[in-house]
Amino acid sequence: MSEKIKVVPYGGPAYEKEDLMKMEPALLRALLRERVHHTIEVPLYPTLVRGQKKPISAFGLQAQMVYDAWKEKGLIDDAPDILWSKEYLALAQKVRDGVKIEWNVPVPEPFTDEEMAVVNKLIYGRRSIRDWVDKPVPDEMIEKILEAGRAAPIGCNLDEVRFVVIKDPEEAKMVWSDIPTPNAVLIVICYDKRIPKVVAQDKFVPHNGGFDAAAAGDHMLLMAHALGLGGVWLSKSIKSDVTEDTGLKFKELYGLPDYIEVALHIAVGWPAVGTIKTQRMPLKEMMLTKGKK
Ligand SMILES: Cc1cc2nc3c(=O)[nH]c(=O)nc-3n(C[C@H](O)[C@H](O)[C@H](O)COP(=O)(O)O)c2cc1C
Repeated sequence: MSEKIKVVPYGGPAYEKEDLMKMEPALLRALLRERVHHTIEVPLYPTLVRGQKKPISAFGLQAQMVYDAWKEKGLIDDAPDILWSKEYLALAQKVRDGVKIEWNVPVPEPFTDEEMAVVNKLIYGRRSIRDWVDKPVPDEMIEKILEAGRAAPIGCNLDEVRFVVIKDPEEAKMVWSDIPTPNAVLIVICYDKRIPKVVAQDKFVPHNGGFDAAAAGDHMLLMAHALGLGGVWLSKSIKSDVTEDTGLKFKELYGLPDYIEVALHIAVGWPAVGTIKTQRMPLKEMMLTKGKK
């Protein structure tokens, strides 16, 4: 590895090897994911697969340097995100070596009519449910909901979203909400505020942590609906005349550190009643413009 290479996320600090070796694993892992994403994955397809650009000679070396530190620290090497990183690092190595790569990953196909009917049922059938019967939600269903949240898009591929599952109604009272949630499982969707700072995302896109959590919440509500459960998005509130800080008490209860920021929570359970689906304004009233041409 060249001594001159430094790891420099866009607008962020420049990291040398010793900085990487000192970095906390959660932060180093986020940096690895971000560097693989921005310096290999994003430029790879136009460069390598479609041949539109010439690769730089140091193609992928920043990400490689982060991975080398990860490996040297003896950290977990077979988690899905690390395996994904290694796949891209291997491709970057081939690019640097000038090896011709045959690309045979197919482009996505449009859904069949039958598949589309399921998508429509999911997207247009989901509705907020705020009343649940006293029937336990099986752990496997909670797992499926969490997995759906895990599959949501994430800014800069940082993986900063974190979940807290609260099944005990007494503990759930620790989370402020405008509706009572007995009989529902609460999933509190948080993010690790330290992670965006590692790549200076807090300077350029400070809202992304909340957006990542929101995307996860939406995926989860869709999965809950598909499982026959009913769910609702519940706002994170701050301390005001009429609200308490959503996260404060429960962070105390579970001993969660300050850098864990609550973004929102969802409540899911077995619906007590069917409800009338809300309707949106017509699309034409939501459209601001379709562009000038
Ligand atoms: C950002 C956001 C915050 C929300 N906060 C709450 C909330 O605090 N309490 C609640 O009962 N519903 C909340 N909801 C759910 C909305 O009220 C609901 O999505 C909306 O009325 C449309 O109904 P639908 O979900 O059935 O389509 C929230 C939804 C979003 C997207």
